[in-house]
Amino acid sequence: MADPALVRQTGDEADAAFREDILNGLSSIPKTTPARWFYDQRGSELFEQITDLPEYYPTRTETALLTAHCAEVGKVAGPGRAVIEFGAGSAAKTPHLLKRIDPAAYVAVDISGDFLRESTAALALDFPSLPVRAVEADFTHPIELPRLAGHLPRLGFFPGSTIGNFEAAVAVDLLRSFRRSLGDGAMLLIGIDRIKDPAVLIPAYDDAAGVTAQFNLNLLTRINRELDGTMPVEAFRHLVRWNDDAARIEMHLQAARDVDFTVAGKRFSMREGETIHSENSHKYGVRDARLLLRAGGWSPCREWADADDMFSLILAEAM
Ligand code: AVJ
Repeated sequence: MADPALVRQTGDEADAAFREDILNGLSSIPKTTPARWFYDQRGSELFEQITDLPEYYPTRTETALLTAHCAEVGKVAGPGRAVIEFGAGSAAKTPHLLKRIDPAAYVAVDISGDFLRESTAALALDFPSLPVRAVEADFTHPIELPRLAGHLPRLGFFPGSTIGNFEAAVAVDLLRSFRRSLGDGAMLLIGIDRIKDPAVLIPAYDDAAGVTAQFNLNLLTRINRELDGTMPVEAFRHLVRWNDDAARIEMHLQAARDVDFTVAGKRFSMREGETIHSENSHKYGVRDARLLLRAGGWSPCREWADADDMFSLILAEAM
């Protein structure tokens, strides 16, 4: 029997979407793959390791902001809301919010179902009287929320600067889609990473221990396993660059030699030095972030940053 606490909106569809995204991406010029496919079980675990790296400042900075300011979030948002978290992953930051705002329900949405089930089970133990649901879904598509979130006013929670994965137009669409699924009277608590010195940004995505490199390369292992691929993983290098025009960190998988391979029966070749652009992580100035939220249908009402202006946490209300 299916786990009643896990609403699965993907499955076979997700397998087909993975195949289509990867084949399209490897066929485009330049080659590119959507960041959401990093998060198989292994990728989700590697991402958790990234969040503990000394160079990766976002997680600890945002966690400190949540610890310091969620009581204020609770005051502004009021009690009795259904908290809907998009891309919940390990839901490590969630307790900081839940224990300070007196919520009526919690719904975690993530593309990695098994991983999500573990994290929501752990969370339910810590909050025994709180109704908790997991929805396995790609949050970039409209999400049908479980009934328990029915008539309650909502608080969307989108931490970690996950918004940074999306180019501006897509980020705006995503915020509008959250606005639609969360409804009138909703609020949104979002973490957004700031533009800063590339000397700080680059090591955060190219750590000395090589965990981010493994995270990036794991995509190739996943392609080989799930799409019957023959990509020579050892022939690829983790490449990180700061794109100043676009204000984003880019991750690429770079061929260290000429390579030929097949994926799902299709043949591909890459020249030495050619890359697969595997992730964008956009960074925002103070006003950029406000503009983005307004464009997406959300009006910022409180915002917090750490003393070094590394990372920001913004509370916004539905316009
Ligand atoms: C989960 C998208 C916020 O961009 O910082 C971390 C992903 N990739 N290291 C980020 C990531 C490599 C992360 N986000």
